[in-house]
Amino acid sequence: MTVAYAPGKVILFGEHAVVYGQPAIAVPVTQVKAKATVEIDPGGQGITIIAEDTEQSYFLEQASPDDALRAIVVSTLEHIGVGTKQGLTIAVSSTIPMARGLGSGAAVSTAIARALGNHFQNLGSVHPLSSYVISDLVYETEKIHHGTPSGIDNTVIAFEKPVYFVKDQKMEIFSVKSPFLLAIADTGIASPTKIAVSHVRRAWEREREKYEEIFDEIGTIAEMGRQAIEQGEIETVGQLMNENHRLLQLIGVSSPELEGLVEAARQGGALGAKLSGAGRGGNIIALVTQETRSRVSMMLRLAGAKEVIVTEVV
Ligand code: MEV
Repeated sequence: MTVAYAPGKVILFGEHAVVYGQPAIAVPVTQVKAKATVEIDPGGQGITIIAEDTEQSYFLEQASPDDALRAIVVSTLEHIGVGTKQGLTIAVSSTIPMARGLGSGAAVSTAIARALGNHFQNLGSVHPLSSYVISDLVYETEKIHHGTPSGIDNTVIAFEKPVYFVKDQKMEIFSVKSPFLLAIADTGIASPTKIAVSHVRRAWEREREKYEEIFDEIGTIAEMGRQAIEQGEIETVGQLMNENHRLLQLIGVSSPELEGLVEAARQGGALGAKLSGAGRGGNIIALVTQETRSRVSMMLRLAGAKEVIVTEVV
């Protein structure tokens, strides 16, 4: 049996604006993960997919073409150069909450592509799949979930490192001079990325000039955020998070629940706080220190957070 994992992610700076060509920064979150296992099914003629969290099991051949699990299995096997007439059982599970901006879909697809790559490599038939290849394969399946994804989720999850990302142009892994802590707090409200992204698109179509100015400002914040992280200027990172949140409010992707959590984090002493990901639900992130992490986490819980994870960005 071959097992592979993939982490969750949060966007530190630049969500939404990244869809329109601005830079963004995302980091992996290793406390939550997706897992995929691949096992040979002796005598089997086809592929069985088991989604353990929903207790579903089905044959690949019978899955609909827009089934995301089917899509990543088929494209990965095509890339490897083997067909789907394999006796295999592929099981997936995930501790990443779905539709909360933590990249659950991309992580499940990444774990599957990795597990299949490792499985066929162990059989001696192919070279390992690189993170670039896995990221590209996952990007194609992300289109099924998200319509017009920028590609940042699959990139940060496949590389498992802080990334600076510009759609269709570049991806750079950058260094974090002084590791820092992020509290990630969940509103408990599912918010599919596709819906939030299409809402922003409609607003942009109505008021292009206004929206593009805001996207430009967000892009500048992402640039400055990268510099601040590379130079270890943590307080500046916090201020930029606050500023980025204000601009996300202006494009209409915040919500009363997100506002409540951002406010609670700031009152608890966070150096900065913002919504993260598509917004309208999902998570906020707050920049905390060893001294403030417990107080901020407590304030977030009191303000209604369903879950609080503290992760270190290194
Ligand atoms: C989703 O994690 C981030 C968005 O910017 C969408 C995308 O980049 O595809 C909202």
